[in-house]
Amino acid sequence: MNILILGGGGREHALAWAVLQNPKCDRLIVAPGNAGIAQIAECPVLDILDGPAVAGFCADNAVDLVIIGPEAPLAAGIADDLRAAGISVFGPSAEGSRLETSKSFTKTICSACGAPTAGYGHFTTAEAARAHVRDRGAPVVVKADGLAAGKGVIVAQDTATALAAIDDMFSGEFGAAGAEVVIEEVMTGEEASYFVLCDGDTALPVGTAQDHKRAFDGDAGPNTGGMGAYSPAPVLTDAVAQKTMDEIVTPTLAELARRGTPYQGILYVGLMIEDGQPRLVEYNVRFGDPECQALMMRLGAQALDLMQACAEGRLHEMSVNWAEDHAMTVVMAAKGYPGAYEKGSVINGLDDLPEDSAHMVFHAGTAWQDGRIVADGGRVLNVTARGATLAEAQERAYGLIDRIDWPQGMYRSDIGWRALA
Ligand code: AMP
Ligand code: GLY
Repeated sequence: MNILILGGGGREHALAWAVLQNPKCDRLIVAPGNAGIAQIAECPVLDILDGPAVAGFCADNAVDLVIIGPEAPLAAGIADDLRAAGISVFGPSAEGSRLETSKSFTKTICSACGAPTAGYGHFTTAEAARAHVRDRGAPVVVKADGLAAGKGVIVAQDTATALAAIDDMFSGEFGAAGAEVVIEEVMTGEEASYFVLCDGDTALPVGTAQDHKRAFDGDAGPNTGGMGAYSPAPVLTDAVAQKTMDEIVTPTLAELARRGTPYQGILYVGLMIEDGQPRLVEYNVRFGDPECQALMMRLGAQALDLMQACAEGRLHEMSVNWAEDHAMTVVMAAKGYPGAYEKGSVINGLDDLPEDSAHMVFHAGTAWQDGRIVADGGRVLNVTARGATLAEAQERAYGLIDRIDWPQGMYRSDIGWRALA
C-alpha cells in the first residue's frame, strides 16, 4: 500500500513509525513531516489545507490510504474532498469535526443523547455571559467556542477572573473562536482519555491514556498542549470504560447517525472521572498529541490494519490484540514554552540512541540545519518507551533523555506520577 499521512508533529511521527512496522506499507509519504519523519518517510511540499491539491497528489502518487493527523485539515473538510474523489481516508468529515471545533455543538449533542457532562450556558454576547457569571458566581469554566489551540479554556476560581476571561474572549484574542463562549460548571475528579475508532456503524476502543497538561513538575505552571502521557490510564478501569461506551460514546454516535452525519475516524473522549463515574470534558476528532505516541508504541503494526478497516467500514471484522504492557512519552520542549522560546538550538546525541519496539524518540518540532538536528518548535522531542510495567517504561524513557544533549531544552521529571503513586 502507498500511504499518505498529513501532519508534521510527534503524533504523525508515531503514526508513521507504527505504519512502517506493518509489511503492508510499500511507500510512506508524510506531508509536511519534520526532520525526524524525513528519516523514515518521503516528505514532499504539499498544502495539507488544500483539498483539491491533496486529492491531486493522491491521484498522481497512487495513494491507497490517507491518514489525517491534526484537526486543522479535518476542520477544513479535507476528508470530505478525498472521499468525494474516491480516495480512502482515515478521519472525520468537517461536519463530524464539529465535535472538536464547536464546544456548543458537542454540548447540544450531549443534551440530545443524555451523555453526562458539565452543565453549561452558551453565549454570543459578552453582556449575556457576564450576567450569567454574576448570577451563578465562581468557580466556573469559561471556554471559547471554537478551536483555540488549547488556550481557549479558563478555569476561573473567582468571579473577577471569569469576567476578565469573558472580556478577553470577546475582545478578539481568539479570533473567530471566541465570538461565542460556553460557560460550564466545574467538574472535579481525575482526567483521562479514551480512544475509540468509529466507522459509522461499529465503535472499537483502542486504548486509554492520561496526559500532563501543565508545564512544570507537580502539575504546576501554565497549560500546554501536553508535556507527557502514558497508556494505559489506571483510573479508566474496565468498568469505567464500559460506562463511557454505554453512557457517552454509543449515545453520541447514535445521535450523529440519526442526524445523517455518522462519525468516521478516531474519537478522543476526554473524561473527568469521579467515584467511578465518567463525565465528558471534551471530544477531539484526532489522536491526542502526545497521547498518540504512547498508544502507537503499544499498538505497533496493527495500528495500520485498524485505521484501514476504519476507513473502509470494516471495523466489525477487527479486534485489538493487547499486550500486558505500558508506554510513556516524555515531551522535551524548548525552554520558555508555552510562552516565547527560541528556535535553532542544536540537539546532539540522538544518533546513538536505541530505536526498537521499547525505545523511540519521536520528533515533534525539529529541522535539519547544516547536517544537524535543531529545535524548530515549542514541543520538540517525544521520548517514548514501553515496558512490562509503567515504572519500567518510565525508567527507560528518562534513561533515553539522560543521553540527549540539548541544554536549551526542558522536560517534566514526573510524568506518570499519579499512576505510580
Ligand atoms: P477542553 O479544551 O474543553 O478539554 O479543556 C481543557 C482543560 O480544561 C481540560 O483538560 C480540563 O483540565 C479543564 N476543563 C475543561 N472543562 C472543565 C470543567 N467543566 N470542569 C473542570 N475542568 C475543566
Ligand atoms: N494532549 C491533548 C490533546 O492532544 O488535545
